[in-house]
Amino acid sequence: MKEKKIILAIESSCDETACALVDEDLNILSSVVTSQIDVHARFGGVIPEVASRMHVEQISIIVKEAIVRSGVTMDDVDYIAYTIGPGLIGSLHIGSVAAKTLAFFYNKPLIGVHHLKGHIFVNELLQPLQFPLMALVVSGGHTELVYIENDHDFKIIGTTLDDAVGEAYDKVARLMDLQYPGGPKIDKLSAEGKEHYQLPIPKVGGYDFSFSGLKNASIQLVKRLERNGEELNKADLAYAFQETALKQLLNKTKLAVEDYGVKQLIVGGGVAANSRLRTLMQEEFKDISLILPPLKYCTDNATMIGVAAFHYLKHQDFIGLDAMSQSSLSIES
Ligand code: KG4
Ligand code: ZN
Repeated sequence: MKEKKIILAIESSCDETACALVDEDLNILSSVVTSQIDVHARFGGVIPEVASRMHVEQISIIVKEAIVRSGVTMDDVDYIAYTIGPGLIGSLHIGSVAAKTLAFFYNKPLIGVHHLKGHIFVNELLQPLQFPLMALVVSGGHTELVYIENDHDFKIIGTTLDDAVGEAYDKVARLMDLQYPGGPKIDKLSAEGKEHYQLPIPKVGGYDFSFSGLKNASIQLVKRLERNGEELNKADLAYAFQETALKQLLNKTKLAVEDYGVKQLIVGGGVAANSRLRTLMQEEFKDISLILPPLKYCTDNATMIGVAAFHYLKHQDFIGLDAMSQSSLSIES
């Protein structure tokens, strides 16, 4: 007779199809992730229709594999959780159909998890959360500073006014003929670069961010060099872009942490994998608890959805089979 509650969680909001089984003590019984990166790299970015089709091909295989690897059966699973939004609507839909089918067939309650709450709560696997806390969520679709009073109370205090930081990384990488996803490539290349090109620091008030000016200035720089017949030093552009982009993240986060007097700072999302950002954060935030997730929890996975789902469970926050996936969904809702 098993004693601990088990959640089967599914993530399919963008270009990873993932399933994990997590128990209430946050033991990960299994976690399977398949990425579509190689396919999207050929197109230079995620093509939504291609992503949906690949989720359709993968989802049953991934769910089955996660169950087999966990060593438990569907009888042992207590709840089904899945990412309800935000994300690509076609991709979200595939995870939703899979989760609802399991919930209906096996008669299990259903939990709809906000993707960014997954990126935040996964950090609990490393350290207990200390409220109030500040989360910097940085991914391909989001750049947000979220003030979190308790596990049910989220307030967006800053957000990007244009591009997300990961999106800017990907677009500037493309400009330099670096394959999608560009973030890790720029991260690596900038280590060989030096201070040479000047890019403008965005002037945005409060805790908000802006990255499109930086992206456009990078495009203009490349065009100007081309016109003048000068060679672009890619490592130096990677360096200039990264330093300017990360300085903005760091400065705004510093301001928010000081103003709100939080106990803990969490960084989450794909860009949290950035080696330079991690170093800068560690140097800057020595006096409060700082959690930087290991790389496997930075990019999308279903473990994070399972961990977050236990908070929904605590608040008896269930959804019905008629719940709709939402491509834009505020973390405050
Ligand atoms: O969270 P994620 O896997 O998917 C979204 O929810 O968007 O984040 C993907 C983003 C991409 O834009 C990718 O280029 C970026 O995270 N990324 C990085 C690094 N690794 C991934 N950006 C900068 N440096 C990295 N090392
Ligand atoms: Zn994500």
